[in-house]
Amino acid sequence: MEALTVQPGVAGSVRLEHAPEPAKSGLLVDTLLVGVCGTDAEIVAGEYGTAPPGRERLILGHECVGRVVDAPKSRTLEPGDLVVPMVRRPDPVPCPSCAVGEWDMCQNGLFTEHGIKQADGFARGRFEIEEDRLVPVAATLGDLAVLVEPASVVAKAWEQIERIGARASWSPSRVLITGAGPVGLLAALLARQREYEVAVLDRVTTGPKPGLVSDLGAKYHVGPVEEAIASPDIVVECTGVGSLVFECIAVSGPNAVVCLTGISTGGRTLDIDAASVNRRMVLENDVVVGSVNANRRHYEAAVAALAEADPAWLGRLITRRVPVTHWAEAFGKQTEDVKVVLDFGRRDG
Ligand code: BGC
Repeated sequence: MEALTVQPGVAGSVRLEHAPEPAKSGLLVDTLLVGVCGTDAEIVAGEYGTAPPGRERLILGHECVGRVVDAPKSRTLEPGDLVVPMVRRPDPVPCPSCAVGEWDMCQNGLFTEHGIKQADGFARGRFEIEEDRLVPVAATLGDLAVLVEPASVVAKAWEQIERIGARASWSPSRVLITGAGPVGLLAALLARQREYEVAVLDRVTTGPKPGLVSDLGAKYHVGPVEEAIASPDIVVECTGVGSLVFECIAVSGPNAVVCLTGISTGGRTLDIDAASVNRRMVLENDVVVGSVNANRRHYEAAVAALAEADPAWLGRLITRRVPVTHWAEAFGKQTEDVKVVLDFGRRDG
């Protein structure tokens, strides 16, 4: 079978190679689609990622929808079922968070992540995996379930925001989302499902993004962040652009929660009046919270949110399906891309 591999730390080392078929004894999943995201781009650029212990190369791919081929010991899964594998595996110690299934909050950093950190990913024809690492998906969602992983990251962000909001009596109404990539658009979807007034800030004026935002009943804004929406109660920052992070803090309203989900690459410095930022945050009870990854609860919330969404709208998020044999095209970013997926050539039915 084919597997898309990379030597972490070495730019340009990606290749499609032959990998042995998994042993036939365990739970086997055929890969349908694998999504490509900014993290994959960083791994491909040699800036992120770690191979499994004792190995030089890592199989890429952490956003995946697959179909069960064989589940000999399972009571709930059958051949043909659609599943999404979870990215992060708990640390082996385990830390107090991993011990209760909250590996997204791992405290000792010894977690592993499929396709990212010390565990092979899913950009391969077939893989063997433990049942407790899979999230079942209804057949009606079909291969749109490739969006479950980015949606799980968003569902966790929303859970964090709501838990923090519960510190006081709070009735938020205005939400600012920065970045109309897949994470930003899914954050906007979940915000509209909560019936908030939503503005999404981006730089692109052409392509599908403006229409995707307006079809959610949200405002698409290109221009200064302070003109996007007045005093947002909630900001979901999805770009990781350092200067924008501080602008989000500055424009947020009293008691605001600013949730950071974008992973910045670093290397740029900013002149910041730190005392003013502090003063504003204290006087307005502002919270800035970072949010990464997702646990099973968030995957299940993501599946529920996608099931409630318009499938045609979700389908428009997938702007290119690239056969895995043409994988290089998937990593060549095009301005009008939202989500690009690698297609393993299997029908989802
Ligand atoms: C993935 C997360 C992961 C994070 C850091 C993101 O792209 O969606 O699951 O925890 O990268 O490695």
